[in-house]
Amino acid sequence: MKFNQSNIKKAKKYLDQNYCIGVPTETVYGLAGNAYSNKAVKNIFKLKKRPANNPLIVHYLNINSLKKDCLINNSFCKLHNKFSPGPITYILKLKKNSKISKYVTNKKKNLAIRFPRHKVFKELLKSLSYPLAAPSANISTKLSSVEASDVKEEFGSKVKLILDGGKCNIGVESTIIDLTSKPTILRLGGLDISRIEKILGKRVKININPKKKIAPGQSLLHYSPGIPLKKNIKKAKKYEAFILIKKRNVTLNNYYYLSKKNNLKEAAKNLYSCLRKIKNKGFKSIVVEKIPNKGMGKVINDRLTRASKY
Ligand code: TXA
Ligand code: MG
Repeated sequence: MKFNQSNIKKAKKYLDQNYCIGVPTETVYGLAGNAYSNKAVKNIFKLKKRPANNPLIVHYLNINSLKKDCLINNSFCKLHNKFSPGPITYILKLKKNSKISKYVTNKKKNLAIRFPRHKVFKELLKSLSYPLAAPSANISTKLSSVEASDVKEEFGSKVKLILDGGKCNIGVESTIIDLTSKPTILRLGGLDISRIEKILGKRVKININPKKKIAPGQSLLHYSPGIPLKKNIKKAKKYEAFILIKKRNVTLNNYYYLSKKNNLKEAAKNLYSCLRKIKNKGFKSIVVEKIPNKGMGKVINDRLTRASKY
């Protein structure tokens, strides 16, 4: 359903009644519900088939609404000033009297929070008196959604309303930084770590594949198209879908391009839709050429590695 004020009202009505809806963000689509409501939050877990111990990100309009629920610190203020709203998620300590449903964090004391930049999400938050818990809008471990039609494909009529905000601009999930102790990156994403380090004035720890999982989303199988995928391949067989980073002189039916000119930002934006297209074409396997491991290329490689653990 295309975005306009009357659809925002409709969305609010559903959310007020503890239903979940699909919402666009600048990273990927979210499956959103009232973060203060046990019923709404339980509903999100059920729809996604998500294990109860995998906590959700809560989305706020601004820092004022956040202060009721979380303790903020210096690093948070610096990063928030520079990068929010935008593709960065912060892990903060929950306040004792916070109204966040205990199911969001599985009764843990830390909360992942984010300020989305997408106009439609912001309009929606403005109309609500509560923040929105919103994981990526896909069945657990499957491909994230970057268009309203992807959300429909994942959940069918189980989701009552999907706000259509067009194709997501960034196309991969937010970068997650834990600020409850020494700043630590838990997930690579839409915001480059070098920019974070510049603002904090120091190197940050990176812990995206820990032995002891901090976030279940760090588990290796994730972002899966549901068919085998191999990375760093030079040539494809005819029956394999071949993902390439830039246009070739000769193009075959099984060739899929992430970008016209080897642009890694454009490639990240197209990654999930390309994988989804291939899956829907009925290919039985995917091979991907080597993607440069710099900038957004690192994020693409991270997602492809997890997608390959099929
Ligand atoms: O870009 C995004 O972040 C999208 C959009 C919709 O905002 N959301 C998203 O949510 O990617 P989700 O649920 O698919 O991924 C959230 C990740 C999971 O890996 C989860 O384990 C981790 O964040 N996470 C959530 N709460 C956490 C916490 N308190 N501590 C550590 N990790 C947490
Ligand atoms: Mg996800």
